Amino acid sequence: MEIFEKNDSRTHYCGTLSKANVGERVCVLGWAQKQRDLGSLIFIDLRDRSGIVQLAFDENTEKEIFDKAFIVRAEFVLCAKGVVRERATVNKNIPTGDIEIVVDEFKILNKAQTPPFEITDSGDVKAELRMKHRYLDLRRPSMQNNIIARSKITNLTRNYFNENGFIDIETPNLIRPTPEGARDYLVPSRVHKGNFYALPQSPQIYKQLLMYSGFDRYIQIARCFRDEDLRADRQPEFTQIDMEISFTTEDEVMAINEGFMAYIFKHFMGKELKTPFLRMTWHEAMERYGSDKPDIRFGFELNNISDIVKDSEFKVFSGAVQNGGSVRAINVKGGAKFSRKEIDSLTEKAKHYHAKGLAWLKKANGEISSSYAKFLTENENNAINERLMLEDGDLILVVADKNKVVFDTLGALRCECAKRLGLLDPFDFKFLWVTEFPLFEYSEEDGRYYAMHHPFTAPMTEDYHLIDTDPGKVRARAYDIVLNGTELGGGSVRINTTEMQEHMFSVLGISKEDAQEKFGFLLEAFKYGVPPHAGLAFGLDRLVTLLLGHEDIRDVIAFPKAQNASEIMSKCPSYANPADLEELGIAIIEQTEE
Ligand code: AMO
Ligand code: AMP
Repeated sequence: MEIFEKNDSRTHYCGTLSKANVGERVCVLGWAQKQRDLGSLIFIDLRDRSGIVQLAFDENTEKEIFDKAFIVRAEFVLCAKGVVRERATVNKNIPTGDIEIVVDEFKILNKAQTPPFEITDSGDVKAELRMKHRYLDLRRPSMQNNIIARSKITNLTRNYFNENGFIDIETPNLIRPTPEGARDYLVPSRVHKGNFYALPQSPQIYKQLLMYSGFDRYIQIARCFRDEDLRADRQPEFTQIDMEISFTTEDEVMAINEGFMAYIFKHFMGKELKTPFLRMTWHEAMERYGSDKPDIRFGFELNNISDIVKDSEFKVFSGAVQNGGSVRAINVKGGAKFSRKEIDSLTEKAKHYHAKGLAWLKKANGEISSSYAKFLTENENNAINERLMLEDGDLILVVADKNKVVFDTLGALRCECAKRLGLLDPFDFKFLWVTEFPLFEYSEEDGRYYAMHHPFTAPMTEDYHLIDTDPGKVRARAYDIVLNGTELGGGSVRINTTEMQEHMFSVLGISKEDAQEKFGFLLEAFKYGVPPHAGLAFGLDRLVTLLLGHEDIRDVIAFPKAQNASEIMSKCPSYANPADLEELGIAIIEQTEE
């Protein structure tokens, strides 16, 4: 191995060289992508974060250098100096394909074993292997691109909020639990044995306290921790772009964040984004799309057909309505081409969402086939087909159940069908605000209400009088920003009086003592002059993922956790040293396998 010395500094990144550099002497540094030995000629593709350039060694190369080039293998770390020349045969596959470097000084800075997978974007490498060697996975051009793009977006974020008078303030990571709705990660205290810190699910309470302190515009790119089941858009630790403003209403918060999106689109993608975004109430979003984060890139909207079938002989339909539920349908344009097998797999998907079944009807080449038409009268069938504007090539999907099941199922199926029909262009960016969320969500399981957003969200003034008598009807001054079926961010106008905050806790079944114990400091703070305030937090990981046209947020996180919340590479979480546990006053109860 040779020593890297100070005059070995890079003059150019590999991928930045072009015909404009022909005749220049350059120094490049990086990893060998591959070496090709043609006898009297050796070529090495050298890779760094910017791309690849070809190094050439030929009969004019000094023997010592040629011999070194001969032993180079994939992922060797190299330093090469030489003059850029035009290439005899142009390689159209890489941007630097019309030039090469004729090497006259050459160092092998380090060797490498054959990596467990090739460092390219082609090839189907198992996710687990990629995660085990994440540092190698991150060498792949697409991953480098993702991580660099993320850095650009965080820089633009800081610029935008700085330009708009926001103050960047860090809040603690070892805190009292905040009620964001997920399970907390707990950290034991050595000093206060038996006591625990929680890692923040969000900086929510602290950013509110900063408003009380008079920092009327706050921004933080904050790490958040939530112990919840993972999905493609969820990680146990993730990053929020967290903001809060004093003396404001929802309109200003929305306008500033629309401006932020437009700024990112302009400076990151060179695209104009039209603002203001569409606003839709939660109620309308559910009725039309069966989802509080509707993907509005395509139609297939829900139609309520309960009125048509409420007295039908077909008990599957009429029974659902009579039991307080509903019967709704979507018309999947072009869906008639789905085979029986494909419809069966949609039915399986429906069962995921607890639907008891999926009724369907399709019209292809003038012929109607259906799982339910034979159970309905001609009038009922005609009325349904008319309401859904049935045309040749269409597929109608019907779900009859409790409203929640109907919405969840059809909400998911419309997206699934759009995906199967190839209607989802990831670069067709359709933003909207969903507003007027219910303040509370009722849990049948626990027989109590939970805050749909968090317990600091203010109710809509016109609904406040219902808070004791009919809490389910109270709408919140909350808003989510939705992009292509993903909840990008959420926020609300906050409660700023003791009376309303205490009232909120009481509806949530948090006793006065409990509220005092958990949030006493907040209630105390309310006594000293709290300004009206509101804010929002974006999921940065989700934002970057969508802007890059990806689906899984792990693609834009350097070291993400796997599905089971572990980090495969470092094997974390891991056992703690018994001595460390003793110092923390913690004993482990052996878990018996069930
Ligand atoms: P909320 O809980 O809606 O609001 O979170 C804001 C945004 O954070 C992202 N997000 C996640 N991203 C990845 N993995 C997760 N596990 C995860 N959980 C949430 C989403 C979400 O929209 N304090 C409030 C904000 C406020 O009221 O100002 C809050 O945390 O994109
Ligand atoms: P069955 O009477 O069970 O043969 O059902 C007739 C059709 O209705 C089949 O296509 C079922 O998949 C469908 N079906 C059953 N339950 C439901 C439901 N809750 N919602 C919609 N369709 C259903």
